[in-house]
Amino acid sequence: MDTNDKKIIIAIDGYSSSGKSTMAKSLAKAIGYKYVDTGAMYRAVTLYAMRHGMIGANHTVNIPAIEEALHKIDITFTLMPDGTQHTLLNGEDVENLIRQLDVSENVSPVSAIPAVRQNLVRKQQDFGKERGIVMDGRDIGTTVFPDAELKIFVNAPAATRAMRRVKELQEKGVPVSYDKVLANVVSRDRQDETRAESPLRRAEDAVDLDNSNLTLKEQDAILIKLYNDRISC
Ligand code: DC
Repeated sequence: MDTNDKKIIIAIDGYSSSGKSTMAKSLAKAIGYKYVDTGAMYRAVTLYAMRHGMIGANHTVNIPAIEEALHKIDITFTLMPDGTQHTLLNGEDVENLIRQLDVSENVSPVSAIPAVRQNLVRKQQDFGKERGIVMDGRDIGTTVFPDAELKIFVNAPAATRAMRRVKELQEKGVPVSYDKVLANVVSRDRQDETRAESPLRRAEDAVDLDNSNLTLKEQDAILIKLYNDRISC
């Protein structure tokens, strides 16, 4: 088979705000693959739950109500004219809303609900049916596609990740405090690592990538090399 015809699945997992999405998007574009941001899917379910009064004070979640609502939640992605991908929740463009801190503060308890995970994992597996996909998240290489041909586990110190997130939000005109963002990053990592259902975990066969001191160009070059090495074997 010609190597160009050999479509593989690429799983990029790692801690919050580690730059997984930037990497995954850039790699998908370079090699002509589809890109799926699974964090956006958990964020969209969280936004739906917040809007329908299913999340109370102190981030307590009404699990039966969320379970019951899952069949009413449709999540899709659309390509914008500027080439960016936006998340649609029941047809509504919620790309900016799902990135706000209030959603970030509620997303870990929602994504720990087993029924939510099972529902979204099934959708993610459907997206990957035709292969030729780069998917980023927390459990892609362990649960969603344990047989993915290329798995990358991304990390960087929490302070570096929080600073990146602050810059990203500020660029979008969202005023945020560094301390609040750092607290959210640390708390989400802890909740994501300790939940019972498919916790954030490095797949044993993943390639580690600490991108703290890498430029985007260097990062892209490493990813392309990993991809080329994998499809040529
Ligand atoms: O990648 P992100 O920060 O946008 O993800 C938001 C949250 O969604 C994250 O804190 C945990 C959850 N998540 C998950 O549990 N499993 C995934 N595959 C992706 C995200």
